[in-house]
Amino acid sequence: MIIEFPIEDSVRKRSSVRNFSDRQIEPEKVEAIGRFVKALDNPFGKEVRFHFFAADDLAAQLSSVPHDAPSANPQRIGTYGVIKGASHFIGASIKKEPMALEALGYEMEALILYLASLELGSCWLGGTFDRKGFVEAMEIDEERLLPAITPYGYAAQRKHFKESMMRRLVGAEKRKPWQQLFFHNDFDTALTEQSAGELTLPLEMVRLGPSASNKQPWRVLLKDEELHFFEDKSPGYSAAFSYDIQRIDLGIAAAHLELSARERGITGRFETDGDVELGLDEEAAKGAADEAGSKLTEKSNLRLPDHYEYVFSWRRK
Ligand SMILES: Cc1cc2nc3c(=O)[nH]c(=O)nc-3n(C[C@H](O)[C@H](O)[C@H](O)COP(=O)(O)O)c2cc1C
Repeated sequence: MIIEFPIEDSVRKRSSVRNFSDRQIEPEKVEAIGRFVKALDNPFGKEVRFHFFAADDLAAQLSSVPHDAPSANPQRIGTYGVIKGASHFIGASIKKEPMALEALGYEMEALILYLASLELGSCWLGGTFDRKGFVEAMEIDEERLLPAITPYGYAAQRKHFKESMMRRLVGAEKRKPWQQLFFHNDFDTALTEQSAGELTLPLEMVRLGPSASNKQPWRVLLKDEELHFFEDKSPGYSAAFSYDIQRIDLGIAAAHLELSARERGITGRFETDGDVELGLDEEAAKGAADEAGSKLTEKSNLRLPDHYEYVFSWRRK
């Protein structure tokens, strides 16, 4: 995937847009978005499919398909009044398999940053949309999941009432400070911006990312020059889904980290075996030690806080 737009700038200027103006998107931009989506990929090797819709098509299709949330206002169809005035939507579907939600988070966030670079607003929707209606309208195969969609277009000048309420409710303007998100060698030691060195900016980009209900579940441990990503899982948060929606947030973090690092000439690769290296996967660590003919005398001394789950690691190339 070749990125030809400024990442840091796009991360800093993106924020969720839920109220859209009726200004038409220029055909060149619509075409450019189509090309960008075709070229998307992700470091986790899972397939993510994108599905495009214009609101008029969507309204027509939804009204011809029986579903639970019909609305007299085509602008409101499918998002329970959360999104207003949007004329274009994109959905992303995956097969349910390990690392697919992270892959989806990565690709769709790259797209959302690209939209921001084109001055187009968007909003991740993982919960407040009529999933069944969109699956039918987008003709998505039964065995695939549609974890998220986004509207896109030019932002209206003002936020609508419900939008302002929602932003206040989740504290959408705020982000957790470094010391709650990033750690050095163990989870008792906060990583400072000074000790993060040239990874300071990429980590700051992770910190500024969007997340479901702005819960910011990403936790990163810097150890031996590698970044290990964990999910601080909010208990019960994903109960309404057949998957862990916060894994999408981790994919978003991966995109912000990798794309902003690359912009600064720093390259790396993602791997999913850091738990073995950190001694968190005791079975695997024991197996490796047995194979090497040595006894596993030392248990991992890394204390993992409650609700933390290892997800992936990023190693410098
Ligand atoms: C995976 C994911 C799912 C989300 N689902 C919804 C949603 O269903 N409805 C909604 O209004 N916002 C949703 N959001 C938007 C977040 O609430 C928003 O990103 C967060 O509050 C931070 O605000 P910002 O995007 O303006 O920086 C979602 C964000 C993510 C990353």
